[in-house]
Amino acid sequence: MCGIVGVIGNPQAVDVVTTGLSRLEYRGYDSAGLAVLGPAGAIHTCKAVGKLAALMAKIPGFNATLPTPPTTAIGHTRWATHGAPTEANAHPHVGTCGAHTIAVVHNGIIENYNEYRTTLAKQGATFASETDTEIIPNALAHRMQGVGVSLVQAVQQLTPTFRGHFAFVAMAQGKPDELVGTRRGAPLCVGLAEGASYLVSDPLALAGICSRFVYLEDDDVVHLTPNRLTITDKNGLPTTRPVTTLDLSTEASGKQGFKHFMLKEIHEQPAVCARILQEYTDAQTLLPCLPLLGLNLATVTTINIVACGTANYAGQVGKYAIESLSRIPTNTDIASEFRYRTPPLRPGDLFIAVSQSGETADTLAALEHAKANGQQILVLTNTPTSTMARMADAVINLQAGREIAVASTKAFTAMVLNLILLGLQLGHARGHLSGAQVHGHTTHLRTLPGLIESMLSHTGVLQKVASGLTGSHSALFLGRGMLAPLAYEGALKMKEISYIHAEGYASGEMKHGPIALVEPGLPVINLATSTDGLFEKTLSNLQEVAARRGHIILVTDDAGATQLPLSGKQGLTLVTVPSSPPLLAPIIFAVPLQLLAYLTATEKGTDVDQPRNLAKSVTVE
Ligand code: G6P
Repeated sequence: MCGIVGVIGNPQAVDVVTTGLSRLEYRGYDSAGLAVLGPAGAIHTCKAVGKLAALMAKIPGFNATLPTPPTTAIGHTRWATHGAPTEANAHPHVGTCGAHTIAVVHNGIIENYNEYRTTLAKQGATFASETDTEIIPNALAHRMQGVGVSLVQAVQQLTPTFRGHFAFVAMAQGKPDELVGTRRGAPLCVGLAEGASYLVSDPLALAGICSRFVYLEDDDVVHLTPNRLTITDKNGLPTTRPVTTLDLSTEASGKQGFKHFMLKEIHEQPAVCARILQEYTDAQTLLPCLPLLGLNLATVTTINIVACGTANYAGQVGKYAIESLSRIPTNTDIASEFRYRTPPLRPGDLFIAVSQSGETADTLAALEHAKANGQQILVLTNTPTSTMARMADAVINLQAGREIAVASTKAFTAMVLNLILLGLQLGHARGHLSGAQVHGHTTHLRTLPGLIESMLSHTGVLQKVASGLTGSHSALFLGRGMLAPLAYEGALKMKEISYIHAEGYASGEMKHGPIALVEPGLPVINLATSTDGLFEKTLSNLQEVAARRGHIILVTDDAGATQLPLSGKQGLTLVTVPSSPPLLAPIIFAVPLQLLAYLTATEKGTDVDQPRNLAKSVTVE
């Protein structure tokens, strides 16, 4: 969370920073700001509350105050942690001591900031914000003034004393030709070009500007001048890191005629499924061929799938798929819980991190814990250059293509499909499934793109349901088996973008509490496939809601719709999806749930692609 851009040696520094920030807004959009080093070495800042557009409106006026275009600049887009989204709390933050004034942009949290703040205040520092960030420039300036060290030395000496996961970039007044950056846990990489260098949270910020990148390791300190890059490692020793060339120009951009990125991404799902099946199934045998060579499957007795948010629900579908297809006991956990309950971990077992971004701090911390305990690490991510991918023994690229909307749709589908393929591959490798059985399953999976396509062109009923939901304060989502995690995901999607309070429950659990919420008119969205052997039980749960006059919205397949007793149809809104074998159901049912949330949110007029308080990549614990 929070996006950082640093530029040195480029006369278009302000443009590069603002363009970069526009590509990093997915990391937070509570405020934005930048600082430049003017020709006399003075620091000038410009900040605005809210989205980048608010900062952009100020830029012409800001530029007019600068005698010449600066070549060094740092910029930031914020997701608020410490301190409300105000201009005072917006980055860059500036700290002064004696002859030294330092500006800093920061991502992550300095956990011991309070101790620092108290000590620095006693030494005469004053603070203008409520942020943890502000201690960084102040501590650096005090260090430089106190012991006479340079900016890079101050960063090298102080970084080990900062607790937490963070990345920051600093520049010093009077030093127009240097930037210093460091990272621990949170992402930061160097971009290299002729005569200019950059520091960014994500290479995407520099698409079209440079293609050579250096990923920093934890506690590296990088010192940049326009033509020189120097890195020291966590022990303060000079080091080098490999240069990676990335082709960012091929990334599809823009909404391509859709009203929102979310709708575009929902519509991309047939292509995403087709790409995954083409990439990860053998063209001749149709057997899955996920890149698992880095793993020793023979030692695996248990699997732990760990993730956050939507990825966690995809992981829960994965548990059903892997256990039923391979018979390997599989646990799922929310990453923030897994790490700190110190679960017993058997060396050689398999830990699977599922993460669209590959940067989520909670998932990363869980992965580090599992790795330290001898687990084999498999990462499913949409960002194969991410920190998690670089720490893994094997990486499955989700193949979803860049997802911009904060509410995840195509990445969820890609996670589920890849986890199903993983279940099939493990089942075959362990001898639980024959080649013919796997072939049967993958043949069915190949119908997915067409089935999703057909659903996307029939949204009439969903539009009516969405109109009805806009007046509701609350909604329940229910499902069984593989559709239970879909109910959780459907509820999450609804609350994320429409701000309607929604609860997802396993259908059978409803009678143990949530049924108390059912009152006349409460929308209860039931997910039921006719092919999982649980249909009749689900219909019974539905009667329990009907008896209390809840408004039932039944999402079922064509075959299920014909099996409904006539009496059961009264007072019920029916949303049908194509009939499919059970393994396909979680993907098929995801689509109407995504559309329902989308249509409800657009009808309510909320900010669909950038909902309030959220960020796409959460790099704080
Ligand atoms: C944030 C996003 C969610 C996402 C979760 C996990 O909370 O708002 O949409 O599901 O992070 O992200 P990851 O990148 O690890 O899949």
